[in-house]
Amino acid sequence: MGRPLASVFALIACLAAAGIAGLALPTGAASQAGGASGAAASSAPSASPGELVGSDQCGQCHQEPAAGIGKTVHGKILLQHPRSQLEKRGCEACHGPGKGHVADVTNTAARGPFGKSSKASAKQQNAQCVQCHDKGEHLFWRGSVHELRGLACTKCHTMHSPASDRYLLVKKTEPEVCSQCHVVKKAQLLRTSHMPVRESKLTCGDCHNPHGSVTRKLIRQNSVNENCYKCHAEKRGPFLWEHAPVRENCLNCHDPHGSIHDKLLKVKRERLCQQCHIPSRHPSQAHDPRTRFVFNRSCLNCHPMIHGSNHPSGEYFLR
Ligand code: HEC
Ligand code: HEC
Ligand code: HEC
Ligand code: HEC
Ligand code: HEC
Ligand code: HEC
Ligand code: HEC
Ligand code: HEC
Ligand code: HEC
Ligand code: HEC
Repeated sequence: MGRPLASVFALIACLAAAGIAGLALPTGAASQAGGASGAAASSAPSASPGELVGSDQCGQCHQEPAAGIGKTVHGKILLQHPRSQLEKRGCEACHGPGKGHVADVTNTAARGPFGKSSKASAKQQNAQCVQCHDKGEHLFWRGSVHELRGLACTKCHTMHSPASDRYLLVKKTEPEVCSQCHVVKKAQLLRTSHMPVRESKLTCGDCHNPHGSVTRKLIRQNSVNENCYKCHAEKRGPFLWEHAPVRENCLNCHDPHGSIHDKLLKVKRERLCQQCHIPSRHPSQAHDPRTRFVFNRSCLNCHPMIHGSNHPSGEYFLR
């Protein structure tokens, strides 16, 4: 996908950000939070200072949650070193103004969008987070598959007692987070030939941005091949003799998660090639398993440079 399209998306994302944040306001009119700057958002829900009680008060009754978040990056920035009006609200930056709740702690409706008694939708909850997290990584959250399917940020993240060392995840590792729902992918990664995700050499997030992307299937890069080249740079070329299906899409032959055929091949070797090369100079029927067309590396016995060749006479990828 080209740059002009990307910037159109960016524009849409910005417009949507302004619009939806406005709709989800707990207290009504959308006004710019005074002094919000830098990483913090510009469209904070309005709250007159009188509705805020301050994090110290919350902490007096909720000692455990306060201690928990104190150890995370939110505690360190929002509670200790706030850089904007919004960050200064501390607990209330996420939970919303607390005056109503403190006045009557039995009133479940006044407890804000989070917690067991909350009836807030995923969208309303996410709006709290998106106040601050709407740039970079998060530019394409709105309209992403995960947003459209109603995932809350808290399906993957937890704020007070995270299970992971980084990124405040609900599970110890990222693949475990994704496997909560994507069980088929989890199973594929257990196949004999698999991307070394379970060996921790890479993770789902190396290829996917769970917060959205301009590329289909949440691929981080502009295309599948760009993604693969990031780590398999030698496959990028340029080659004197290119193999068309490689240039087009690595997934013509490989499965990016796992396969029962070695080297992550989607199909058994000679069949893989014969999907496209039926009328070659070789016999084109199904081969006897004992021949050199099937044995060992099959077609690759003679055509090893299948990703492209730089040899002057590498036209047939023989060298
Ligand atoms: C005077 C004590 C007190 C203060 C101050 C207080 N709370 Fe509470 N809060 C409670 C009580 C009591 C409950 C109900 C607990 C329950 O039902 O288990 C509660 C419930 C909650 C819940 C819902 C918990 C759940 O699992 O549903 C949240 C969220 C919460 N408070 C956040 C805050 C925040 C943020 C502040 C500061 C703005 C705050 N509280 C200030 C006493 C207090
Ligand atoms: C970065 C956003 C954020 C901040 C800041 C924050 N919370 Fe929370 N809080 C949440 C979310 C989200 C939940 C829902 C459970 C979860 O995902 O961890 C929650 C849950 C709670 C609960 C319900 C009980 C529980 O542990 O599930 C209480 C009580 C609470 N928070 C109090 C506080 C207090 C007190 C502060 C300030 C010291 C605070 N929170 C700061 C986001 C935040
Ligand atoms: C008031 C602003 C603010 C709000 C609201 C807020 N955050 Fe953050 N969050 C930050 C800042 C600041 C950081 C530090 C890193 C950065 O600048 O991005 C951070 C970091 C994070 C990180 C990365 C932690 C790490 O270990 O690297 C996650 C995940 C996160 N926030 C999720 C959430 C979620 C989910 C919510 C809503 C429940 C939320 N945040 C609400 C300001 C906010
Ligand atoms: C489907 C799971 C999932 C959902 C839903 C999700 N996240 Fe994340 N998030 C992750 C994972 C996994 C990471 C770790 C780094 C990565 O792979 O991008 C992460 C990283 C982050 C970070 C730190 C990285 C950075 O540079 O910003 C922030 C902040 C964050 N998420 C905020 C949010 C917010 C806000 C929402 C809701 C609007 C949200 N996330 C929804 C899975 C998720
Ligand atoms: C090496 C890169 C890579 C890794 C690692 C990876 N994926 Fe993928 N994933 C892809 C590519 C490429 C596609 C297909 C894109 C397409 O069809 O255009 C894809 C597709 C998907 C799809 C959509 C499937 C469909 O049929 O529509 C899901 C869901 C998915 N991946 C989840 C995961 C999860 C969960 C993990 C981690 C456990 C993971 N992926 C790890 C590259 C990767
Ligand atoms: C709470 C459930 C849940 C979790 C956790 C989750 N996903 Fe998803 N994911 C979904 C749903 C629902 C869809 C939409 C599936 C569909 O429409 O077929 C989806 C779709 C996808 C797709 C396909 C996108 C497309 O365009 O079709 C990818 C890729 C993906 N998720 C990656 C991830 C990754 C990576 C993680 C972990 C960081 C993750 N998911 C965690 C629920 C989840
Ligand atoms: C974040 C880095 C990364 C990305 C992105 C990536 N790979 Fe890999 N890939 C690896 C690593 C690491 C290995 C294991 C190499 C090893 O163990 O020697 C590997 C191995 C492979 C293998 C060989 C498997 C085997 O059994 O030897 C194939 C084929 C492969 N990748 C194809 C792809 C394709 C296709 C893509 C794009 C969809 C892709 N890779 C994207 C890191 C990556
Ligand atoms: C026409 C089918 C085809 C396409 C398209 C294809 N490959 Fe391969 N690839 C193979 C075959 C066959 C093997 C096994 C080679 C062997 O056994 O020597 C392989 C092996 C690999 C390996 C492991 C061995 C090595 O050479 O390092 C990696 C990594 C790899 N491919 C990456 C890629 C990437 C990245 C792309 C996209 C740019 C891609 N492949 C496109 C057929 C293909
Ligand atoms: C997705 C279809 C596809 C697959 C799978 C595929 N190829 Fe190709 N291959 C092509 C196309 C298209 C060309 C270019 C043909 C042309 O330029 O006339 C080509 C060219 C070639 C050439 C160069 C000969 C020529 O006519 O230019 C050889 C040799 C070759 N492929 C071998 C293989 C082998 C071996 C495999 C299995 C590892 C394989 N191909 C898998 C589509 C495919
Ligand atoms: C014993 C070695 C050997 C094996 C095994 C082999 N090839 Fe070839 N192939 C060649 C040679 C040599 C040429 C070049 C012929 C020429 O120069 O006239 C060639 C040419 C080709 C060509 C281009 C000419 C044409 O007929 O279109 C294709 C396509 C091709 N092979 C596909 C395959 C496929 C698919 C397989 C596996 C089923 C395979 N080859 C197995 C040696 C082999």
